Amino acid sequence: MVGIAILPDSRIVRATINDVYTLADLHLELNQEMAAHSVFCPEELLEWRTVEHLIRHNLGAEGFLVWLARTHQEGDGVGFVSAALDRAPMPTARLITGTILNLYVKPASRRSGVGSALFQTARTAMTAAGARAIELSYLNGNERAARFWSAQGFVPESTKAVLPLSGPR
Ligand SMILES: CC(C)(COP(=O)(O)OP(=O)(O)OC[C@H]1O[C@@H](n2cnc3c(N)ncnc32)[C@H](O)[C@@H]1OP(=O)(O)O)[C@@H](O)C(=O)NCCC(=O)NCCS
Repeated sequence: MVGIAILPDSRIVRATINDVYTLADLHLELNQEMAAHSVFCPEELLEWRTVEHLIRHNLGAEGFLVWLARTHQEGDGVGFVSAALDRAPMPTARLITGTILNLYVKPASRRSGVGSALFQTARTAMTAAGARAIELSYLNGNERAARFWSAQGFVPESTKAVLPLSGPR
């Protein structure tokens, strides 16, 4: 598959079912890193994106878009972005909003444009599909994400609050 060039040694490609193990590893790294910012992140959540989950709900789901950033040397994934398109339940109908679900770049490949290239790939695809806006959320305290999304032109709009409940499951 032809990829989009970012750096001399990396490219972005649409993820396929063959990338499921790479994606599972990247999701696990992302979840572990995000646990540091979350007030509610039980052990079970860290590993919930199993290979089966990814096949059934991500790579195999309609309207779900996933891209990988690969290095030429290793062929390994150094990052990914996942996105989905929603049709807003509004009377004005046909207003499509894109959602960035996850964006992750391995620490060693950060600050070299990989995250931007992944996001711009998703943005181009969502725009072509008719999206009029893109939304996303990131955890409070994730200042790196706040600065990254601000650099991409995003403006904070709402705050989500969480009250962890204890007790028997
Ligand atoms: C957020 C993340 C995806 C950024 O990926 P990246 O490949 O480093 O991003 P880029 O190199 O394309 O950075 C683009 C711009 O964003 C801003 N930026 C990115 N990381 C930054 C940081 N640590 N501090 C300040 N600004 C930052 C800068 O303006 C940067 O441009 P510059 O390097 O020319 O100054 C990456 O840090 C990551 O995977 N973090 C952990 C997961 C996460 O938080 N995901 C987002 C939540 S949905």
